[in-house]
Amino acid sequence: MSRIAYVAGQYLPHSQASVHIEDRGYQFADGVYEVVAVSGGRRIDDDLHFERLERSLGALDIPMPMSRRALAVVMDQVLRLNRVRDGIIYLQVTRGQAPRDHAWSGPSSPVLTVTARRQSPPDEALASQGVAVITLKDQRWKRNDIKSVNLLANIMAKYKARAEGAYEAWLIDDDDLITEGTSTTAWIVSSDGQLITRPLDEAILGGVTRAALIHIARAAGMEVEERPFSRTEALAAREAFLTSTSAYVLAIVSIDGQKIGDGTPGPVTLNLLDRYRRHVSGNDFSG
Ligand code: PDD
Repeated sequence: MSRIAYVAGQYLPHSQASVHIEDRGYQFADGVYEVVAVSGGRRIDDDLHFERLERSLGALDIPMPMSRRALAVVMDQVLRLNRVRDGIIYLQVTRGQAPRDHAWSGPSSPVLTVTARRQSPPDEALASQGVAVITLKDQRWKRNDIKSVNLLANIMAKYKARAEGAYEAWLIDDDDLITEGTSTTAWIVSSDGQLITRPLDEAILGGVTRAALIHIARAAGMEVEERPFSRTEALAAREAFLTSTSAYVLAIVSIDGQKIGDGTPGPVTLNLLDRYRRHVSGNDFSG
């Protein structure tokens, strides 16, 4: 079965799915994207993804290519054509095609592309084993709240992490505070048991999984502190973990080669993973 993509109004086999060489996404990374998880054919937390997409586009003065409702129809159609029930949807909106010039003029005609693929969340072995992260200087621009397709600093850092045998790199700002992972949100359970993640600001992407997990944790009576934390605090933490649409909740058992807690996934992390899985499978009645 050939994979089908939606490209600017058409459903096409991947081999024919292309955008113009003068698309500003290609020329300038002038565009944004979303990754939406799909479980049992259901789009997970799609309202949060739509909100973030609208915020990202608004910050760049790119219009929404179509209404949320029409976008949902396209996404479902791409899922159906590719027979994806569990996996991810990738959607990208660029400012569109124009002769190359830094400044843009006139109204843009944004170009929307949507693809889907089967993908499983991290398997039980990885979830129960946990992963290693390294820390690196955060070399990204200063508007990481926008889900821009310009991911150069992210991919360089992820590449370095993988080359060093780590799953992810946690990025550190000029004040020695952890911002986030290259494609994931950073969390710790501090040495005195507080569940902590950095507050939303322009230094990080407002993760949809982050928002859902804060809600889930609070609904379960857990306190979540949204405050910055440093590398030193992370190294002394009882537990550390990361979250994202595709990784769910994944325990971190070492940072820069130093063991976190006893070097195995901690109880708070595993409890949150369990609750998040129930949320994704639609069996979470706490919200
Ligand atoms: N990454 N921080 C960054 C820099 C990210 O790129 C992502 C998402 C997250 C987590 O956000 P969410 O919970 O909404 O997935 C945090 C996506 C999955 C990606 O680039 O593939």
